[in-house]
Amino acid sequence: MSDALDNVRDHYRAAGLTERLKTALRALGPEEQRLTPQQLGVLDQFHTRGLTATAELATLSRITADMSVLDIGSGVGGPARFLAAAYGCQVTGVDLSESFVDAARYLTARTGQSGQVSFQTASALELPFNDGRFDVVLLQHVAMNISDRPRLYREIRRVLKFGSRFATFDVVLDSGEPHYPVPWARTPATSFLLTAVATREAVEAAGFHTLAWQDDTEAAKAWFAQLGASGPPPSPNLGTVMGPDFARLAANLGRNLGEGRLGILTAVFEAASINA
Ligand SMILES: C[S@@+](CC[C@H](N)C(=O)[O-])C[C@H]1O[C@@H](n2cnc3c(N)ncnc32)[C@H](O)[C@@H]1O
Repeated sequence: MSDALDNVRDHYRAAGLTERLKTALRALGPEEQRLTPQQLGVLDQFHTRGLTATAELATLSRITADMSVLDIGSGVGGPARFLAAAYGCQVTGVDLSESFVDAARYLTARTGQSGQVSFQTASALELPFNDGRFDVVLLQHVAMNISDRPRLYREIRRVLKFGSRFATFDVVLDSGEPHYPVPWARTPATSFLLTAVATREAVEAAGFHTLAWQDDTEAAKAWFAQLGASGPPPSPNLGTVMGPDFARLAANLGRNLGEGRLGILTAVFEAASINA
């Protein structure tokens, strides 16, 4: 494992996460009570604009019930559970962080979706799947943690069927270096941002055609402004997953967007011939 991956793994090492979630979720009902993916949306969508952004990316991905979807960097599994509930598809999540995978499995048992949604600990740079295994790959707020983008996008292309879709929703570099800490990095050691244009070039070079390309920076700024105006969120929330200083990390992302240092990109690509 490279130093960069080790640093990222350390950033997302959330000791005792499943136990903390069990405690926090008592606010929503007793342990044996089934929860819905919507109820968990307050703490399991680890990206700007939460469940709304996942739903929009899913629409662009044109998922259907017979599809097999891979969510790379699946976090605690919120996007995967939402996709399975909304579309009836099978979803596999992979994540570098063992504690996140453990928490994702626990939360999926709580929503009764374990037959449809599964999780594995693995690196996006070495996906444990055969070529052409998936119909859709999702990557939400993960690429900024990965330095070897050519390898990331080649791995994604490898596990997708020809003609299928890769949908990404990520933070991109705009006009300057970000203020740290941010939700994916306490220091520049775990942050590997590209501009939107460089992201597109890297994805297309791996064997994709661009289908949709959207600058979501303004929508993200509006979302942060609304969050700021509505005061501290009730518990449980993403701070339950990432720790008590998460609000400060998230506020810095809002500041970086406001100052034009960072942007938010939504893009969907079609898997072309690998040598195209
Ligand atoms: C900001 S969270 C986003 C989680 C999820 N996609 C979501 O939107 O709710 C980033 C996730 O990417 C994972 N990650 C970062 N680098 C990775 C890599 N090389 N391979 C697999 N997962 C990775 C982290 O462990 C973390 O769970």
